[in-house]
Amino acid sequence: MVFLLVKTKAVFFIGFTIGGILALILMLAEDLISTKPVCNVRPSRLCRNLEEKESEVEGESYRKWLRLQNVKISKADMDELMYAKKYHTAATNSPILESDWLKSKIHITCVVFVEKIKLANAIKNTWAPHCNRIYYFGAEKDKRIPIIKFDIKLTSSWQLLCESIRYIWQDVSNYKISLDTQAKDKIEWLIFVKDDTMVIPENLRYFVAPMDFDKGYYLGHPITLWQQAYNVAQAGYVLSKGSFLKIVSNFNTTEKCATGGKYWKKEDYDLGKHLGSMGIYPLDTRNEDLSGIFHGYSLQSLLWGVAKSGSYWTHSLYPIGPDCCSPRSITFSAGVPDEMYNTYYMLYRLNVYKGNGTYGNQPAATDIPDQEMWKIILEEEFNITNINQISSQQYYKIWRDRYSEPEQFIKNNYKNMPDVLSSLLTAYEAEKKLDQNNTLI
Ligand SMILES: *[C@@H]1O[C@H](CO)[C@@H](O)[C@H](O)[C@H]1NC(C)=O
Ligand SMILES: *[C@@H]1O[C@H](CO)[C@@H](O)[C@H](O)[C@H]1NC(C)=O
Ligand SMILES: *[C@@H]1O[C@H](CO)[C@@H](O)[C@H](O)[C@H]1NC(C)=O
Ligand SMILES: *[C@@H]1O[C@H](CO)[C@@H](O)[C@H](O)[C@H]1NC(C)=O
Repeated sequence: MVFLLVKTKAVFFIGFTIGGILALILMLAEDLISTKPVCNVRPSRLCRNLEEKESEVEGESYRKWLRLQNVKISKADMDELMYAKKYHTAATNSPILESDWLKSKIHITCVVFVEKIKLANAIKNTWAPHCNRIYYFGAEKDKRIPIIKFDIKLTSSWQLLCESIRYIWQDVSNYKISLDTQAKDKIEWLIFVKDDTMVIPENLRYFVAPMDFDKGYYLGHPITLWQQAYNVAQAGYVLSKGSFLKIVSNFNTTEKCATGGKYWKKEDYDLGKHLGSMGIYPLDTRNEDLSGIFHGYSLQSLLWGVAKSGSYWTHSLYPIGPDCCSPRSITFSAGVPDEMYNTYYMLYRLNVYKGNGTYGNQPAATDIPDQEMWKIILEEEFNITNINQISSQQYYKIWRDRYSEPEQFIKNNYKNMPDVLSSLLTAYEAEKKLDQNNTLI
């Protein structure tokens, strides 16, 4: 039996928070990693790269990888897991959600390029803590967010990206020297996004877990421009440690970063070009059904249809199928903070009860039952302590005297403004009559 080989005692639960809750919006699919990449693309080099991927990744899909990890997995009732007291009291041997366990195993460094402080703040309040480590780079400083601003004059957006990569490597190296902590000095996978992006780091961990981060991976939504394949910045892109270190060693001075690019808003193209020259190409990240996992558009646009023009669609290296969005999606655009907060709530906090919700669907615990509440109100508001002696008529009268109808309220409170108020009243009454007629019909 497989479990006999299990060394660790901890029991891991497949949680439904990640895949499951995302499936509220999207459909739940069974397979995690696209195992049948379609090679219908233009540059033949990429096809070769794909075949490589097939032998590498298909052989060790997430589940296979998981089986090698010496953990025991069982399904959990999220209602029980989140709310039942038994798990909260038993500190030892308590189960760990698969996504939490993955967070301790797969180190994700998030890199955000900040243009709008409001968006950066929304990121900080929503998905940022789901990364193992996060860096913000930008031109503006802010008290709330530790934005890193470079003192040198930047001449291209590539230079900013290049300096950011150099900064991170320097920072991580300093950590190694000064603290020698295992967790904080790690670089395994890095995701680079603009500030109008919602990232789901849990889904990225699922995707990259079976891959070897020391190799050169470059993931995102690839398009071609001027014969060059690259992952577009608007969908966010991911580098493995292997790719990251190649950039670090090839651009080891400020001068090299400065001469590596010429344009603004073309750092994604430049990165693709430089990685390509080192033999690292974008991979097909689509799901089995050809739906994408890195999205350069908002969920609204993707779901209710965008005009699929523009190079994002027309020059897509791996054309995306008609149905929006893999359930394992990793990025979306979210151009306003509200959207980010809403999506975050839907994904991480809202729970849909398909069963009865034995634990989590309980009314609030209160010291005062409903009927007692009224007694308290009568006493506090009307100084009536002897409740039993009040008839329902008396009770109604008290209530009417105290809390008037709107007409009464306006007459009593706005005696000095008769004109405005009478027109307000007329309008109100007309509306009320209309309502009455409607309800009668
Ligand atoms: C940068 O890398 C080159 C080799 O690629 C090396 O000769 C040079 O010394 C390095 N410079 C620094 C500052 O590390
Ligand atoms: C929910 O509760 C009702 C009545 O208490 C019961 O008949 C039903 O089987 C329960 N459903 C589930 C999914 O537990
Ligand atoms: C409440 O009623 C009691 C007698 O029933 C009276 O002594 C007391 O002064 C009243 N309190 C207020 C605030 O009216
Ligand atoms: C409502 O119905 C009454 C008769 O029942 C009628 O006189 C009055 O004009 C109706 N009001 C409207 C706004 O339709």
